[in-house]
Amino acid sequence: MKLILIGFGVVGQGVAEILQSKAEQLEKRYQFAPAIIGVVTATKGALFQPAGLDIAALLSAAQTGSFQHYPESVGLRRDMTASDMIGAGSADVLVELSPTDLESAQPALAYCRQALDAGLHLALANKGPVALDYHNLRSKAAARGLHLRCEATVMAGTPVMQMAEEALAGCAIQAARGILNGTTNYILTRMEEGMSYAEALAQAQALGYAEADPAGDVEGWDAAGKVLILANALFGSRLKMSDLDVSGITDISSEDIAAAKAAGQRYKLIAQATPNGGSVKATRLPLSDPLASVAGSTNAITLETDLMGAVTLIGAGAGKLETGSAILSDLLAIHRIANAT
Ligand code: HSE
Repeated sequence: MKLILIGFGVVGQGVAEILQSKAEQLEKRYQFAPAIIGVVTATKGALFQPAGLDIAALLSAAQTGSFQHYPESVGLRRDMTASDMIGAGSADVLVELSPTDLESAQPALAYCRQALDAGLHLALANKGPVALDYHNLRSKAAARGLHLRCEATVMAGTPVMQMAEEALAGCAIQAARGILNGTTNYILTRMEEGMSYAEALAQAQALGYAEADPAGDVEGWDAAGKVLILANALFGSRLKMSDLDVSGITDISSEDIAAAKAAGQRYKLIAQATPNGGSVKATRLPLSDPLASVAGSTNAITLETDLMGAVTLIGAGAGKLETGSAILSDLLAIHRIANAT
């Protein structure tokens, strides 16, 4: 399986590290031997090598901040755009890991469309295209027998998409409620322990949880994007950002958090989705609410279903290897299905 990666920040490097460290196991256990043939970034440059890039050298070059430090080899190109690489006809999967834009989803959306037209499967951690154009991408993919996989877009590698679409197949999902942003949950947890907002946010950024622009996290937009993705994928809805009631944690002070604590309560940024709407709102929960004990960058979601009642999933919501794990899982799903047919 030949991969093109767009974006090589925290998640892209996580994917590369996982493919490197698990290469032997993936080959042995799943007969899966992926090669990264292209990487395009906004700040480090681009690399294209049809024979497969050397992952260790790719990771070291990324650490220096520029792919200029990647060693020369026969066939290596440094001048190709994402569009050139997709059009080159050598790749099987486009892995879209560039920063999320929830207003236009561009330029990622254009690359996703081009990739499907060119016969490439898609695996995304970028939330923009899935939040804003899920149904069109899905039907374009289906018409060509291609996969659109997006496990990484909600709760990192905690498998909410696969749980809903595969494990709970046959159940109608009526609503979803949970904690869907790791950065804000981390900040609220640290603030309750006495840390300042600024320091907690700086830590969340250093740990690789926050978006490239963390305003998206703290103002609730990242969680809102995930509500749109869930509404698209779980309910088949066509909700827009303007259908959601969105606020974040920026108005919550250390004093508010201390007052909640004194009253036996805790603030959580709660996201809700139903077929007709949704919301993201900082909410004071009693400590007896199971979501109140979900701490740090951990996320949780409860799906209300017709046959199973409430099903709750708790796990990592952000992070390098945690999100990289979702991409690996999607690539393995594509590999499994491709090999079964
Ligand atoms: N910034 C996001 C979060 C990353 O903190 O949850 C995972 O989508």
